[in-house]
Amino acid sequence: MEPQVTIKVRENGPLLITGPVKLFDHLGNEFTIPAGKETIGLCRCGQSKNRPFCDGAHKQCGFLAAEIAVKPS
Ligand code: FES
Repeated sequence: MEPQVTIKVRENGPLLITGPVKLFDHLGNEFTIPAGKETIGLCRCGQSKNRPFCDGAHKQCGFLAAEIAVKPS
């Protein structure tokens, strides 16, 4: 069984991706993910100085996002 990747949407924050992933830019260049780092945060607010990674700037810029997954009935 392959290791599972999970993506969590943080309330008013980044996407937290846990699992064995590779991340590429639009030209196919791979971003370096530090060895041993199991979770990465991808910026959703657009204010990070280290995009595509979250650097915590969402806390200061007032980023609001209200996505909620609808539970199956
Ligand atoms: S979501 Fe954290 S810096 Fe943008």
